[in-house]
Amino acid sequence: MRKFVIIAPALFALAACGGAEQAETPAADAETAAAPETAEPAPAATAEVSGEKSFAKCTACHKVEKGAPNGIGPNLHGIVGKAVASVEGFAYSPAMAAKGGNWDEAALDAYIENPRKVVPGTKMAFAGINNAEERKALIGWLKEQK
Ligand code: HEC
Repeated sequence: MRKFVIIAPALFALAACGGAEQAETPAADAETAAAPETAEPAPAATAEVSGEKSFAKCTACHKVEKGAPNGIGPNLHGIVGKAVASVEGFAYSPAMAAKGGNWDEAALDAYIENPRKVVPGTKMAFAGINNAEERKALIGWLKEQK
């Protein structure tokens, strides 16, 4: 007698398991999170550091119009590039009188930032302007005053 090995066709059943995991919906809504690139046009950053406005900090003591009288401080007309302590008729402190050099932009910038550090003993009673952009704008404005 022969034994018939019946290869059960049941093996087929194992193959059918596959297709379950296709529910990976690619989260399609996430990408549309309305990119908030509301490019605001840098709000008047330059207008705020206007040299003219900044000069209001100086006007208690300085005038800048040509020929205007000295006040508590000397007239600053044409000060950019001018020799230090050379405004006629102004009584400078010994410290300022001895400083020498010109008020080029770098010297002015340093002085306006911290007057007493640059000219120890100056009689300019002004704390200084910390904001570099403001000083730049102010010096630019002083330069333009004709
Ligand atoms: C409280 C009064 C006062 C204020 C405010 C003031 N200054 Fe002066 N400034 C003076 C006096 C006084 C002198 C003369 C200093 C000395 O002889 O030591 C002077 C001198 C100067 C000089 C040197 C002028 C020269 O002929 O060599 C410059 C530049 C100057 N000031 C710029 C400024 C600027 C810019 C501001 C405003 C940001 C300012 N000052 C604010 C009183 C003032």
